[in-house]
Amino acid sequence: MSIVTLKDKQFKPYIKSEQIEAAVKKVAQQINADLKNEMPLFVAVLNGSFMFAADLMKQIEIPCEISFVKMASYHGTESTGKVNELIGLNQNIEGRTVVVIEDIVDTGNTIEKLTSMLKDKKVKSFKIATALFKPSVYKKDIKIDYVGIEIPNDFVVGYGLDYDGLGRNLKDILVIA
Ligand code: IMP
Repeated sequence: MSIVTLKDKQFKPYIKSEQIEAAVKKVAQQINADLKNEMPLFVAVLNGSFMFAADLMKQIEIPCEISFVKMASYHGTESTGKVNELIGLNQNIEGRTVVVIEDIVDTGNTIEKLTSMLKDKKVKSFKIATALFKPSVYKKDIKIDYVGIEIPNDFVVGYGLDYDGLGRNLKDILVIA
């Protein structure tokens, strides 16, 4: 794949789909081994994780469920400040082993909010699985249990990741040129 233009920016080839495939397989093998007695509930965070979630789930061989959620945040009253909400999780997840599926972990702000909401719902435990991880930017203490590929602090698109809504459909990952 050559240079791809998305709106005002150009992106060049970075990680080929074959390499992503191998990374997803590795993550799935770890989860299959670690959680074989847990009947985990996978919680895929939309929109970005849709491609990773689909590929990962095809490699998961243990009994499991999957739900798709969206994070929404809005300003509550002045005293409560910013309120975060999880949309789409309609079942009771108390006591469940949850595996969060993310497209990318960057600063970790999203993961921090999400895991605090999961704790409020009294899950038994949670693990984080992400296709991409930017360790040099990550600032939180929460363990990222399963990482597909570590990347430097570059802006990437493809494999579910977007630039202003575009590029999610690309099967390779591209980096800003
Ligand atoms: P965090 O909360 O800073 O960890 O960022 C997580 C979210 O930021 C991801 O779910 C993406 O939506 C977005 N994001 C972070 N880095 C990139 C990138 O390189 N390309 C596209 N989106 C990104």
